[in-house]
Parts: sequence; C-alpha cells; structure tokens
Amino acid sequence: MESSQEHTLAQTFLSTGNQMAVLRDSLGTLKGFVKMATYVQTVDIGHFAPADEREALTREALTREVQRGLIARPRSLSPWMFYDAEGSRLFERITTLPEYYPTRTERAILAGYADAIIAAAHGDRSLPLRLVELGAGTASKTCILLEAALRVSDDVAYVPVDVCPDALELACQNVACALPEVRMQPIVRNYVTHPLQLDLFDGTTLALYIGTSIGNFSPEEAQLILRNLCSQLQTGDALLLGTDMVKDRRTLLAAYDDNDGITGAFNLNILHRLNRELGANFDAACFRHRVLWNSIECRIEMHLESTQEQDVSIDDADLDLHFMPRETIHTENSYKFTDQGIRRLLTQVGFEVRGTWKDSRGWYTLTLACLG
Ligand SMILES: C[S@@+](CC[C@H](N)C(=O)[O-])C[C@H]1O[C@@H](n2cnc3c(N)ncnc32)[C@H](O)[C@@H]1O
Repeated sequence: MESSQEHTLAQTFLSTGNQMAVLRDSLGTLKGFVKMATYVQTVDIGHFAPADEREALTREALTREVQRGLIARPRSLSPWMFYDAEGSRLFERITTLPEYYPTRTERAILAGYADAIIAAAHGDRSLPLRLVELGAGTASKTCILLEAALRVSDDVAYVPVDVCPDALELACQNVACALPEVRMQPIVRNYVTHPLQLDLFDGTTLALYIGTSIGNFSPEEAQLILRNLCSQLQTGDALLLGTDMVKDRRTLLAAYDDNDGITGAFNLNILHRLNRELGANFDAACFRHRVLWNSIECRIEMHLESTQEQDVSIDDADLDLHFMPRETIHTENSYKFTDQGIRRLLTQVGFEVRGTWKDSRGWYTLTLACLG
C-alpha cells in the first residue's frame, strides 16, 4: 500500500502532466522520481491521467470484454486481461522457469547481436533514436538494446507502452537505474482496444515488439496490429519482431504447463481479477488450467476448464453465468512461427525484412523489418 504522502506525491505527478516517473524498489517502496522525455502525449489511460480515471477506463474495458467473451460460445477472454499487478508478477516468475525457454533464448540473441541490430536499424547515426516498445512489461531485456543504442548515439529516447501500470513503473525503474541518460516517456495503453498514436519524431524510430507477444493474436489480428504500427512509423523507421518458432510438441506444452504450477496460477488469476475488479464470485478452485497444442492452427492454447456444474455472477457487468462440467473459457493463444510465416506477415503490412537473428537451435527468431 502507498503511504498517504507517497500517494499525494504520485497523484501530483500523475494529474499535472509532470514529466516524471515514480520509482519503487522491488518491494514496491517508493524510491523517488525520474525525469522523463521533454515531450508529453495525451493518451486514453496514460501515465499522466489521474489513477481513478485510469481505473474507471480499465473497468469499462473489462466489463465490455466479459460481456462479449463470456456470453459467446465457446467462451473466451482476451489475454490482456491477465496483466494486472499480480498477473505481471506471475509472468515475471514464468520467465525464470526452466520450462519457459522463450525469454532466456531471446535475451541470449539480444546479448549476442544487439550492436548488429541497432546498426541495421539506425543507418544515420547523426539522428536521434527512439525505441518504442509494445507490451514492454518490466523491460527486463530492453536495456541490452538501449545500451547498444547509446554506443552509437547520445540522444536516445525510450517509449515503453503497456496496459499494466505496475509493470511500466518497474520498467522505468529498471531503465532509469541502469541508463539514466535515456529519456523516457512511458505510456499506459491497451494497444488492442486503443491503437497506438505516436508523436512525430525528428529522428529514427525502432519499434520493439518482442517477447513473442505477436503470437497472442490470430494472423488477421496480428496484421491489424502491425498495420496500425506501420501507420505510426515513417520511411527509414524499423520494427524488431520477436517470434517463437514451431518446435516439438512436448517442449511447447511444457513451456505453458510448468511443474510448479506458476502458469496455472497465471491463468487462474484472470478469475481472481474479475472477483477483485468486477464483483464476480468465481471459485477458482472449481476451474483448472488446461493447455493444448492445436496443430492445425499452429498454436498453443490455454483454457480454464470448469470442474463441475456451477453458477457464477459478475455483478458489475450484470452477468449471470452457468457452467457445465468440462466447459471451458479460452484465455490465450500462442501462435508458433516459421520463417515463411514471419516474412509473409511483415511484407503483407508493408515492411521489408532487413535481417534475422536466431539461437543455435532455431527455437526463436528476431526479425528486423524496415519501412522502405
Ligand atoms: C508476454 S508479456 C511480454 C513482456 C516483455 N515484452 C517481455 O518480452 O518479457 C506481454 C506484455 O504485454 C502487455 N500487454 C498484453 N496485452 C496488451 C495490450 N493489449 N496492450 C498493451 N499491453 C499489453 C502485458 O501487460 C505484458 O507486460
């Protein structure tokens, strides 16, 4: 909990549009504030909006989503709903699990090739460089690229975009502590419900869409997201896309169904979140985490399966639901890619592939694509 003094300070910054980020240590203790970029952007649920306004907008989006997804058959919920403070904390734990190879594989590729990636993305070193990261989370790998950016430019800005303000605060803290010379402009935004609107930038923009987040979307949805991103970039700008590749079924299933049950807790947290934020009365003990490999769609699917016949109400969304035993809520897809699939997706929306970097097993790919 924030002390009242911390709350007042944070509120002052958030409500006046002051260009500062709130810093806390890993236990959440307020440590200070860090100066951010010298430009301010108006956003729907921005870091600078008052917290109560932001919460109201989030509640509205949650309500719309449960009214859409839980009435439909089969039932489904959007994966952005995983990411409240607890969901983000659980995701961070997932990234350290032995079964969850994507994060450490992507980090190793970045560590090996960050200079080459920045060189390919930022041809004219005399220009300022802006890194815009979709779904930045805590930016745990981004400093590798920002360090490489600082080796070629002394004017580097970082714009992390995320639906979860708690993760974004940690991202600001990580970057500000490691690289105080980077100018930051965090944006709290749901890029699915409110497509990105970037300020014009007098320099090169490198958009980062890593962590295989694109895999959470169907090919049609992925195209829409990338088209929107494309529309925000200018000639000479680039996108670095991180994608998890098709591999053996057992490795894929284990990555989403770990022995310690952390991914299960992450999946079930959606129900706890609806209890906390929308007055629902889900009994999470009456649902279980289910993972399957859909070889036709080439994706891992996560579901929550009702273990018994049960009634659930979601008061704030005016919903009364009846679940049959084994009925499921589809909560996440994680599409897996091939080289041809990545190229097709990028070229369809107007990017030209300029470089690819992989790990030695070919499990993961980073692709740099430019707007020619
Ligand atoms: C799979 S995690 C990846 C985090 C980080 N990029 C990484 O590579 O570890 C997805 C991140 O995207 C954010 N996110 C998911 N859906 C989003 C949406 N629709 N709009 C904005 N952020 C979203 C989540 O809050 C989370 O931090």
